Amino acid sequence: MIISGKDLAREVRENIARKVASYRIEYGREPNLCVILVGDDPNSHTYVRGKGKAAQEVGFSHTELLLPDTITEHELIDRIHELNNDDSVDGILVQLPLPKHIRKHRVIEAIDPNKDVDGFHSRNVDALWHKLPGVRACTPKGIIKLLDKAGVEIAGRHAVVIGRSNIVGFPVAKMLLDRNATVTIAHSHTADLGAITRQADILVVAIGVPKLIKGDMVKEGAAVIDVGISHDPETGKLSGDVDFAEVEPKASVITPVPGGVGPMTIACLMENTLDCYTRKMQWD
Ligand code: GUN
Repeated sequence: MIISGKDLAREVRENIARKVASYRIEYGREPNLCVILVGDDPNSHTYVRGKGKAAQEVGFSHTELLLPDTITEHELIDRIHELNNDDSVDGILVQLPLPKHIRKHRVIEAIDPNKDVDGFHSRNVDALWHKLPGVRACTPKGIIKLLDKAGVEIAGRHAVVIGRSNIVGFPVAKMLLDRNATVTIAHSHTADLGAITRQADILVVAIGVPKLIKGDMVKEGAAVIDVGISHDPETGKLSGDVDFAEVEPKASVITPVPGGVGPMTIACLMENTLDCYTRKMQWD
């Protein structure tokens, strides 16, 4: 079964749009997301456009703050502080990667954790590790929703996560652990990757190596989640970290690239923005 992230993301967005319509009446305005893009990396532009389109679709107001890559770290942090203090802004996102002269962690830590819709601020990361309320990172959240939608049992199963980034690998491993999976984290230094991946009932691949996972590396009946997205050097087409043609016949469920995890990340970003907004409105 191919799990369509596109279809599930649409369901999530429709659900949000319905809530926005009633919250607009209750609270007098819609949620407001600010997306900051520094420089003109074409991939980042595409992602930012996708986020803006989704925000518009669910009925949020949103602003794109396009800043030149000549901006200093200090100036960027000043802009973030202004948005932190702006009561009409509910969510702030800084598109990554940032230019080399800007320290990513300084920028992430400058965002008000209550407006950190990416869930990257250390207070939100801490909340995940301590099972406390907080903003959860979008891609890991989307992966869990996809598994649930496909009816994949998580508790008691062996989940193998390849990749240990702060954006995907690390948090998704923790979320699977909290759902009572037994979790192995593998990475680019894992000696015999196939020996590990063949044990997986649930395989999450987020390492950014096109078609790394071949058919003989996957157990019959495994649920396979492909987070990778890059251009295949041979065909120029978008490709995941999983060799789809080889793995699909063995998997019980598998996500396609594109149209799998990607749309879910954006849908969960909308969900996080709505949550930041409602928490704020209910406090006020
Ligand atoms: N760049 C790649 N993935 C992400 C993400 O999830 N959030 C942000 N802000 N930048 C990214």
